[in-house]
Amino acid sequence: MQDVIVAYGTETGNSESLAERLQQQLSAGGHPARLMELDDVQLAQLPQARALLVITSTYGEGDPPSNAELFYETLMAGGRSLAGLSFSVCALGDSEYEYFCKCGRDIDAQLEALGAARLSPRVECDGDDLSPFEGWLHAVTSFIGAQPAQPAQPAQPAQPAPPPQYAQPAQPAPPAQHYPPAPQQSAPREQATKMAHVDQLTPSVATPSQRDNPALRGSKKNPLFARVLKNMNLNHPQSDKETRHIELSLEGAELSYEVGDALGVLPRNDAYLILELLSVLGLNREQKVSVGDETMSLYFALKYRRDVVKIDPRLFELVNVNAAPPALRMATQDPAARKAYMDEHHVIDLVKQGAVQTSAERFLACLRSLSPRLYSISSSPKAHPGEVHLTVDVLRYALHETQRKGVASNFIAELEAGDHVGVYVQPTKDFKLCDESAPMIMVGPGTGIAPFRAMLEEREATRAPGKSWLFFGAQRQATDFLYQQELSAWVQSGRLSQLNCAWSRDQDYKVYVQDLMHQHAAGIWQWLEAGAYVYICGDAKRMAKDVHSTLLRIISEQGRMSPQDAEEYMRRFKAEKRYRRDVY
Ligand code: FDA
Repeated sequence: MQDVIVAYGTETGNSESLAERLQQQLSAGGHPARLMELDDVQLAQLPQARALLVITSTYGEGDPPSNAELFYETLMAGGRSLAGLSFSVCALGDSEYEYFCKCGRDIDAQLEALGAARLSPRVECDGDDLSPFEGWLHAVTSFIGAQPAQPAQPAQPAQPAPPPQYAQPAQPAPPAQHYPPAPQQSAPREQATKMAHVDQLTPSVATPSQRDNPALRGSKKNPLFARVLKNMNLNHPQSDKETRHIELSLEGAELSYEVGDALGVLPRNDAYLILELLSVLGLNREQKVSVGDETMSLYFALKYRRDVVKIDPRLFELVNVNAAPPALRMATQDPAARKAYMDEHHVIDLVKQGAVQTSAERFLACLRSLSPRLYSISSSPKAHPGEVHLTVDVLRYALHETQRKGVASNFIAELEAGDHVGVYVQPTKDFKLCDESAPMIMVGPGTGIAPFRAMLEEREATRAPGKSWLFFGAQRQATDFLYQQELSAWVQSGRLSQLNCAWSRDQDYKVYVQDLMHQHAAGIWQWLEAGAYVYICGDAKRMAKDVHSTLLRIISEQGRMSPQDAEEYMRRFKAEKRYRRDVY
């Protein structure tokens, strides 16, 4: 009898837990289902399956999650008919990101292009809103339940694809239910830069249990409250950069995490920006508004509940077209112009240029929910029991001749010892520390250093015998050498077998981590052949891609392989789970 394959692609475990639910529901209904990571699915075995049900998230710049990379690459390469296969896809994503649900969409389209038949339309879950999954679960289990199991069929020659079924549009995200709850009375007046009454709320206390207990890790909706112990700038005051080292106390919270996990931080919007928006719109900050089933002041809603920076398409409905400049007028009509406008402007620009006049309720209805931001944990719980540390790059840039600030990183930068901040642990699935005796090569420029500080601390605390090699990079040695003392001490003690730093602006030409890797190609090749794991953390847009190509080049040159064989070597390397990335 054929089994249904329930396959998931996940970076954080969300898809996995949904896939488990699906598998259990199918099995309970008498329909054997195999739960697999997408990378373990062989295309050749698919025609024998009763159906393929895929649940996958999207990562970085529209990339597949790390346990789906091989499957994705092989599927996209095409060249094989999947006629006879029934399938359906549930994509997870976050519409805050440009490449929303891209991995799920691509897999869905390619399965169809290869001749497989869609048994139920693709659904897309946005953030925490899993209602599309619930509908999909019902649809696919009903479909499978209604079909008698067929004996295994040999692979069929390619058939014309069935008529396309339209994917369900993404569901709008529900209003966020972020802590803190809305005050019952009117919100107290706030200092311009701090929300004092929030910081005085009692931290939630969780009882000790295992890492798998979500109550212990907190969640976006019910974060745990952590007290700030320390907040210091890791860069020299004369640096162009500001990177904060944050220490949070978990005392009383018993929040459990492992090296490689990330911490979700619930940000708050900048008070000056909110006041500017209120002034331009002529709205009263104390006015009562409803957000979901809560009532609060307009100011509170803008501070904690809504994104007042990133434009939501609904905001264009408020534009006074007659008063707007041509680019904004175009954006109200043309999707491409709208996207361009959204990429280059913030809410405040649209409100000013579009001469927006609206009610508080209508304005709120046209804003996105304020999302938590993730930060790679930079401490080992063995080295710092009861604490969690972060390494945060403070984002500041100029746009239309005014200074703009990243929401969460600037909120974090302004935290002071004694403040409380809502956090939750986002466990990693694959970015875990390897076996204690395995050699590891870590590539982490900038804040990419964060999880490697944690890994080195953990290896130190456990006296792990494995060798460690770190490639770090930043602009200038004199001002930007993050964690210099700790790293130097580890080099001296031998904990770090090798440290190579790329200072991009210390000479006339740019030097990046990938350049140093290539200079050390022979050594890297030896480590790879000796079973080393490669970890990459930091910028997904350029660094991770450049490091990947450099690794391929090293494999090809040092292993004397053709580019195709080097790709094959890399595929095996990934399949052995020795290539681990945390890129954003
Ligand atoms: P906010 O989200 O408000 O602004 C970012 C946006 O600003 C960009 O999307 C872009 O649109 C715009 N922008 C940025 N630069 C611009 C420019 N020059 N011109 C015009 N527009 C520009 N970060 C970190 O510091 N340390 C870490 O350890 C990690 N770890 C980590 C792990 C994982 C898994 C993820 C997904 C992400 C991280 N990050 C991180 C990144 C972090 O989550 C967050 O994205 C950044 O701190 C920025 O968030 P803000 O809220 O400050 O910026």
